[in-house]
Amino acid sequence: METPETTRRGFYVAAIQGLGALIGAALAVPAAIYLLVRPRSQKEPQWVEAADVNQLKVKQPEEVVFRRKRIDGWRTINEKTTAWVVKMDDQSVVAYAPNCTHLGCAYHWDAQQMNFLCPCHTSVFSVDGKVLAGPAPRPLDRYASRVESGKLLIGPTIEKSA
Ligand code: FES
Repeated sequence: METPETTRRGFYVAAIQGLGALIGAALAVPAAIYLLVRPRSQKEPQWVEAADVNQLKVKQPEEVVFRRKRIDGWRTINEKTTAWVVKMDDQSVVAYAPNCTHLGCAYHWDAQQMNFLCPCHTSVFSVDGKVLAGPAPRPLDRYASRVESGKLLIGPTIEKSA
């Protein structure tokens, strides 16, 4: 038969266990949501207006500066970045990532040679991004891009060339 002490002890044990379960749930539920639910901002592709296509001259690359949101883990970073955009013809515009595919140096357009030149290890790329010389292992990487209402929109991802 239970005495008043054992009943009181039983009550305290149950209360402590219940409190422990409550604290565990209070910690576990937000942690599970943080780990398992993707933020809405990561689901929506970000397209940024980068240039007026009518201002671009065919096969004369222009370096454009634009701001974009970049997802780094769970942080969203609003950063300024650049792209080399080339109007290939009246129908298509290509946006190259600004870094050399060798070790990531910034390259530039040489208007006299009509090539992209990387000053670090002298890789040379053609206007359509192909490697012409130097140690670069692959053509220039490209941003996803599309033209809408005469504006060049640049996508969030860099597409690695093969
Ligand atoms: S980083 Fe451009 S050639 Fe090495």
